[in-house]
Amino acid sequence: ARIEKGGYKHYMAKEIAQQPTVVGEVLNAYVKDDRIAMNLGGIDFADVDRLSIVACGTAYYAGLVAKYWFEHYARLPIDIDVASEFRYREAPFAPKTLGVFVSQSGETADTLAALRYSAGKVDKIVSLINVPESSIARESDVAVEIHAGPEVSVASTKAFTCQLTCFAIMALKAAHDRGHLDDTGLAAHLADLRQLPGLMSHALTIDTATKEIAAKLAEARDVLFLGRGQMFPLALEGALKLKEISYIHAEGYASGELKHGPIALVDKATPTVVMAPHDGLFDKTVSNMQEVMARGGRVVLVSDARAAKEAGDGVWQSLALPEAPELIQPILYAIPAQLLAYHTAIAKGTDVDQPRNLAKSVTVE
Ligand code: AGP
Repeated sequence: ARIEKGGYKHYMAKEIAQQPTVVGEVLNAYVKDDRIAMNLGGIDFADVDRLSIVACGTAYYAGLVAKYWFEHYARLPIDIDVASEFRYREAPFAPKTLGVFVSQSGETADTLAALRYSAGKVDKIVSLINVPESSIARESDVAVEIHAGPEVSVASTKAFTCQLTCFAIMALKAAHDRGHLDDTGLAAHLADLRQLPGLMSHALTIDTATKEIAAKLAEARDVLFLGRGQMFPLALEGALKLKEISYIHAEGYASGELKHGPIALVDKATPTVVMAPHDGLFDKTVSNMQEVMARGGRVVLVSDARAAKEAGDGVWQSLALPEAPELIQPILYAIPAQLLAYHTAIAKGTDVDQPRNLAKSVTVE
């Protein structure tokens, strides 16, 4: 059946708005009270020494966030690659490695080829997919459905936050299996995850504020996105979304890399979007922002009220999200990244749902 826009101007707007609901569905499917109920075909992460995560585009960025989570919470080393590089590299695998493949469509040619390369060489093939009858799902030992529902817009939005929610649950299971999280700790993190639908609905109310900032971003030729730690992949995702649908050149960088090159780009005409909730690394980020501002750069701070206060004067524009537990911050901050791109594209008059040169599913090499 044809999927309707349901009163929204674009599929992308509808899919952004659906996120509190679909993320809630992921939690219903995989969390029961204080327990994880995700069927991973009997995988016990205590018997796993390494994950090899492979994906493309936005799905790859979900994997990058997951790397921070698995390493931090479960002390499990992660290798991560884009599928087009991985498939020809003939990577060797250490024993006790799980192959993890992330794909909304389940049909991305490079990701499928990477999966086929890994089959028989890793202990098990696990995939995170949105389309259960897809090739990647069929060829996996365990296919975890991300429950985003049909995603029509070429720019991926709700699939990203659902992939992240599934990964967060998996990383907590790994932490628990490996003895780094006891029952009480697990219950506390699951309670954090359960805050997501409410916090995401709250985050969606920045829509109007985002529109005003987007009107200014639409005048830029280049935009920099910065993030640190688990927010670094969000900077990459924000830049990808913006270039895909508004055709503005955007680059995502780890905040600390700024002085190793990209700071040369900073001038009045190049806005820098800083994705920085209040966390343990916030003061480092403030000093990176000051470096940008000292060179006449204009900073758009995407943060929470507490961090905005600590950032002091000089910030050009800011977007305040609700404060959130650290684990779920990357999921929440997907919303401003998406809304900034969406409203900038609207301001530029581009084709939001069908950007030029792009296909929803890349089934050729
Ligand atoms: C994201 O907005 C993209 N259009 C693109 O990067 C996408 O995430 C990538 O092609 C992977 O697709 P898949 O998840 O269907 O494998």
